[in-house]
Amino acid sequence: MRTRPLKVALLGCGVVGSEVTRIITTQSADLAARIGAPIELAGIAVRRPNRVRDGVPAELLTTDATALVKRGDIDVVVEVIGGIEPVRTLITTAFEHGASVVSANKALLAADGASLHAKAAEHGVDLYYEAAVAGAIPLIRPLRESLAGDKVNRVLGIVNGTTNFILDKMDSTGAGYSEALDEATALGYAEADPTADVEGFDAAAKAAILAGIAFHTRVTIDDVHREGLTEVTAADIASAKKMGCTVKLLAICERARDGRSVTARVHPAMIPLSHPLASVRGAYNAVFVEAEAAGQLMFYGPGAGGAPTASAVLGDLVAACRNKLAATTGAGESAYTQLPVSPMGDVVTRYHISLDVADKPGVLAQVATVFAEHDVSIDTVRQQGRNQGGGDEAATEQDGGPGAPPSGSWGREGGEASLVVVTHRAPDAALSATVSSLRKLDTVRGVASIMRVEGE
Ligand SMILES: NC(=O)c1ccc[n+]([C@@H]2O[C@H](COP(=O)([O-])OP(=O)(O)OC[C@H]3O[C@@H](n4cnc5c(N)ncnc54)[C@H](OP(=O)(O)O)[C@@H]3O)[C@@H](O)[C@H]2O)c1
Repeated sequence: MRTRPLKVALLGCGVVGSEVTRIITTQSADLAARIGAPIELAGIAVRRPNRVRDGVPAELLTTDATALVKRGDIDVVVEVIGGIEPVRTLITTAFEHGASVVSANKALLAADGASLHAKAAEHGVDLYYEAAVAGAIPLIRPLRESLAGDKVNRVLGIVNGTTNFILDKMDSTGAGYSEALDEATALGYAEADPTADVEGFDAAAKAAILAGIAFHTRVTIDDVHREGLTEVTAADIASAKKMGCTVKLLAICERARDGRSVTARVHPAMIPLSHPLASVRGAYNAVFVEAEAAGQLMFYGPGAGGAPTASAVLGDLVAACRNKLAATTGAGESAYTQLPVSPMGDVVTRYHISLDVADKPGVLAQVATVFAEHDVSIDTVRQQGRNQGGGDEAATEQDGGPGAPPSGSWGREGGEASLVVVTHRAPDAALSATVSSLRKLDTVRGVASIMRVEGE
């Protein structure tokens, strides 16, 4: 084993960085044996050097991150600060000074991964970021390396623990969104400002990274269609249950059936209880990968937290250190397919639409006609009369072609009814046009919710 240590600079020592420090300092003998040389923490950049940090060698702390990455003797820089700047500049400077970089920064990778990869390649160093997607769960390396000989067609994942906790609470207790969010905040699963999680920005960044790697193309966060879960109601969850489904915030990356384009999106969706992702509870993450030769694979585990995320960081650090010792680099960016990212309107999926309608004869036929006009085929319809105390319900299944009205007696003179329509697969643009037309009908008092149905 080489005795001269590999030098590691740590940028950031918060939730993740403190755990990275702990593992490097407490597991040094094992890490050295696995790498083939000892590693030495050469410096730790933070914002507030006087903050109390248990187990962190105070003499290593500095507020000058730029000077640290410019030292010239650093082999690997571990970046766990987060955000775009000054981190992008720090990482670029590290490459220019010959250091490989390990990052947990999904925001930066999803915004500008291509130019960072190019810089790393230009300087003959590594850029690794396993921790940027789904915390401890090995996902980037399996997609990049283990599945490099296969063809991935679909990645479907729960990649945000906060939103999964909220939806799981709503599902198991019948709570509304605000109540479930309050509980997530009280238990430390949601941040004081939960926007990045509940509006889907965090998951969209991860979807961009996953789609790029899975389909060997370039996808940025701006290419990802994003809808958060703030509009999901207890009624949506109850309606999903009636269909044998649950609601999850999903990141979905798909190769088009003709193979000529890809899509990436994040939105709440109903999935059948029989789907493996339906059983992912609490703040756990899971990613379901469909590959041509491998078939269906599921990756499951803790998607955040200091120690789990540090586990992924350390895996990358060991890989980067081994490459440094061997004077080589790992696989870089693979974007050779250059597939375009199609707009959301081209996505084809199923829909669950809940309408408030006048409770009188002929309404169902009118609604069905609108679906037919837009070539959206109805699978099932369920109606619930409100003026009857909500207990009177009927459902029908049909496959009589686009929009053909189901048989049966639905009319009940008087107040309002709730009509739930589930469609067969249709393009998102056709569904949007259908909903616009439905809103114009006098008998449709409102569109209570629209939710996609996935995983079938
Ligand atoms: N937390 C998770 O569960 C998790 C999971 C997956 C990925 N990640 C990613 O990991 C990264 C770090 O997350 P975190 O939760 O550990 O964040 P955090 O607890 O807020 O820690 C950020 C660290 O960066 C330091 N810092 C901020 N600005 C700095 C600057 N300009 N120069 C030097 N140091 C600076 C802070 O210094 P002070 O300590 O002095 O404030 C702090 O130590 C982010 O990219 C995040 O997305 C986190």
